[in-house]
Amino acid sequence: MTSKAHALSLKILAECSTTKARACHMTLPHSIVETPVFMPVGTQGTLKGLLPEQLEELDCKIMLGNTYHLGNRPGPELLEKAGGLHKFMNWNRSLLTDSGGFQMVSLLKLAEITEEGVKFQSPHDGSEMMLTPEKSIEIQNSIGADIIMQLDDVVHSSTTGERLEEAMWRTIRWLDRCIKAHKRPHDQSIFPIVQGGLDPELRKKCAYELIKRDVNGYAIGGLSGGEEKQDFWRMVSLSTDILPDDKPRYLMGVGFAVDLVVCAALGCDMFDCVFPTRTARFGSALVPSGQLNLKSKIFSSDFRPIDDQCKCSTCKNYTRAYLHTIVTNETVACHLLSVHNVAYQLNLMKSVHDSIKEDKFPQFIKAFFIQQFPNKD
Ligand code: GUN
Ligand code: ZN
Repeated sequence: MTSKAHALSLKILAECSTTKARACHMTLPHSIVETPVFMPVGTQGTLKGLLPEQLEELDCKIMLGNTYHLGNRPGPELLEKAGGLHKFMNWNRSLLTDSGGFQMVSLLKLAEITEEGVKFQSPHDGSEMMLTPEKSIEIQNSIGADIIMQLDDVVHSSTTGERLEEAMWRTIRWLDRCIKAHKRPHDQSIFPIVQGGLDPELRKKCAYELIKRDVNGYAIGGLSGGEEKQDFWRMVSLSTDILPDDKPRYLMGVGFAVDLVVCAALGCDMFDCVFPTRTARFGSALVPSGQLNLKSKIFSSDFRPIDDQCKCSTCKNYTRAYLHTIVTNETVACHLLSVHNVAYQLNLMKSVHDSIKEDKFPQFIKAFFIQQFPNKD
């Protein structure tokens, strides 16, 4: 056994007999994760509206941290002094960090990409900074997450032609620089990212290149940017057809319930998205039939919980009428709603995992879609 085997191991518990879905145990240095899994996203090392102890209570085993934010503040030196992000934020379970480039390109209009890396202006003092593959890995090594991501050249999913092809090949070159710079392969797994936009041939080429590298898992990126569902799902499916069965597959930035269920059926094991916490801040509660907009007046005298089947602390203790106070951007309501929405995502994935194990995933999918789209026959 190589030393890398300790950083991640995947045990397939069951495979769906109809779809490409699988139920697994992914063992990481800080926890054992049941997959398919949804990973809530933290930005400043803390999850917006949720404390690490509340995530533990929800039985969350892995969450995301963010290199772009953490690289600036507290910064790598301070994080190393603190003994890594786990200790710094009092989260003893698993963490995954993204490489930072995607966030910079999507947040900062001024980011400029060259072969060397991503050049951008510091949001703090406006000074020019460069995130190279080596720098991203250095920061992620000091953060110390169980899973770290390569720096990739991400283009919008509507990009075609030369720029798309350049981004795909550059992503592979950057992967090799990242792997070379990685100093903690014994306890941190680096995941490459399949790019290639909506071009099936480029996607396939990318996936075939990536699987030549010996790593513990793979991600699929560059999707969920507003493309048509059929294009999105097709790119996911042809990627999972190529990526090895015995390693986890992480679909980045995907978090709508329908996409989670469909992409689990297409063979994806891990997902992340800011959607459940972001939508909570807008007053939207995730429920089996879709979403409830708690800002609506109809809830001002509705004394039922958000979802009487949900076992989260918000549903146990608070009514829709109380949560309607979110109309004035009440932070307590916002926080309670975030707890519920993350609980919804985690419970959904637990149901997916359990139904795969019982070989009842097709029935689960059918019942799920009937609940989500009750009037369509
Ligand atoms: N988050 C959502 N999509 C992506 C992607 O394509 N690359 C990276 N690094 N992060 C993402
Ligand atoms: Zn709830």
